[in-house]
Amino acid sequence: MRRPLIAGNWKMNTDRAAAVGLATVVAQRAGEAPEVDLLVCPPSIYLAPVREALADARVSLGAQNMHQESAGAYTGEISASMLCDVGVQYVILGHSERRHVFGETNAQINLKTVAALAAGLTPIVCVGEKLEQREAGKTAAVIRDQFTGSLSDITADMAPRIVIAYEPVWAIGTGKVATPEQAEEVHADLRKLLVERYNGEVAESIRILYGGSVKPDNATQLLTQPNIDGALVGGASLKADDFLGIALAG
Ligand code: PGA
Repeated sequence: MRRPLIAGNWKMNTDRAAAVGLATVVAQRAGEAPEVDLLVCPPSIYLAPVREALADARVSLGAQNMHQESAGAYTGEISASMLCDVGVQYVILGHSERRHVFGETNAQINLKTVAALAAGLTPIVCVGEKLEQREAGKTAAVIRDQFTGSLSDITADMAPRIVIAYEPVWAIGTGKVATPEQAEEVHADLRKLLVERYNGEVAESIRILYGGSVKPDNATQLLTQPNIDGALVGGASLKADDFLGIALAG
């Protein structure tokens, strides 16, 4: 059985006090949702104070990005080992904002995924189609291409240590959530791609999260779909009540 994972992607929001405050409340109230794993992903500059605020609570800490190299002349970048050094356990890779605003390619995301696993981090590898691709009937092809390219060096031995997130670009930050049927269709396709690429056992073990305008009032319908194993939550993760409300729906 896959344990649901509810992940909060805070993006470039909060300041130090707000980040620590939000993490403190989530940590204090984590016991309200014992059936799910909780994860918060603050801006990298607040990872260390958020780690302290989470203390021993059963809330994991994640970063929103990293560089694939372990060290060197990469101004402005952060490596996997640096993330581990401040107590990070997960890292979001290939988020649609990284792909479409910063031009990250499948090849780079693959290298980052390999580096994250080598450092002992759990990568959350994101895929998702744009509105025009969905309208042109290309969703399945886009997802296949991103899946294959972003995981091209991930073997069957490594694969059980990854998480996948399906985030339709048109649903991110727009308030337009995918219907449970639309989301489940892509999640089921991703599960099939995992079976094809690896095997049934590996495919069954991997959590596939849905992301895109998840809120407490739409979370239950999404999280009860057979192939949806959690949520990657942006806007609603900035309010402890909403984030925990989604966790309770899982
Ligand atoms: P949203 O963002 O919940 O604000 O739509 C989701 C995400 O980008 O991970």
